[in-house]
Amino acid sequence: MSGDWISVRLADKRLVAEDVAALLLEPADGTALPPFAAGAHVDVELPGGLVRQYSLCNAPGDPGRYELGVLLDRQGRGGSRAVHEQLAVGQAIRIGRPRNLFPLVPAEHSVLLAGGIGITPILAMAEQLAADGAGFELHYFVRSPERAAFVDRLAAPRFGDRCRLHVGDRIPPSFDAPALFDAPRAGHHLYVCGPNAFMDAVLDGARAGGWPDDRLHSERFAAAALPAGDDRPFEIEVEGSGAIVAVAPGQSAAEALAAAGICIPLSCEQGICGTCLTTVVGGVPDHRDSYLSDAERAANDCFTPCCSRAATPRLVIQL
Ligand code: FES
Repeated sequence: MSGDWISVRLADKRLVAEDVAALLLEPADGTALPPFAAGAHVDVELPGGLVRQYSLCNAPGDPGRYELGVLLDRQGRGGSRAVHEQLAVGQAIRIGRPRNLFPLVPAEHSVLLAGGIGITPILAMAEQLAADGAGFELHYFVRSPERAAFVDRLAAPRFGDRCRLHVGDRIPPSFDAPALFDAPRAGHHLYVCGPNAFMDAVLDGARAGGWPDDRLHSERFAAAALPAGDDRPFEIEVEGSGAIVAVAPGQSAAEALAAAGICIPLSCEQGICGTCLTTVVGGVPDHRDSYLSDAERAANDCFTPCCSRAATPRLVIQL
């Protein structure tokens, strides 16, 4: 292992559902992989210079290996195609250290909702909660039985009858949404991961039923469709440095800052991971991310320079 990257070997790769490949990664040099908590993801370096983020789906206490699940997205930006079509068992690849932007919080009961490939972080959460003897239920939504991944693990005795599969579009009738959404109980937390339309349906339903935002936890794999803003030019002042950087239409704030020698850490570059989150001390951001909550956006004290812009002529940031 060197620096922030970890060298691993693809020890196994197999289809676990239609268009879903499970990857088993083991350390290339025989040393232990860093521990991770449920909900964590890693950056994966792929052929063609691509870097993509994938959630770890094995049990957090499982030493010596990481497991990922990757859905083939034929219309995507190429990362999943590289995984499915180019990565071969035995191949050496590099990954980043686990990062967790979707952690479990201590709760009396956790409600885990996964849509499609959103099962990956949710499965790690179920493993953690089962190992801890904590209360939880898991609902897994898929369009067809063939698209249900990791069903053998979900049927394992350690989960008892706490994992339910729901087959159909969006939120099918087998899921008693009113029973869950309309009766939020104190001490219950809800976690959701999956396609944006599914997540929006779950979060809207839960909020309408009275779930407070601080007990709703979500992670998106793709940026939510936002109304196209008009890309007006603006300036970024870096507090205390004297630097004022012009951001042109069609250029991201992060790109403009990098061109001026000011590098912000980036990962997803779509406003979903929060890696680039930067403190704002002046001006008003034009938030275009899917990472911040409504309350965090309203505070206007941070923004994601990979995709967000400014609603005022200048933003003052703190690095
Ligand atoms: S790099 Fe992921 S939110 Fe900006």
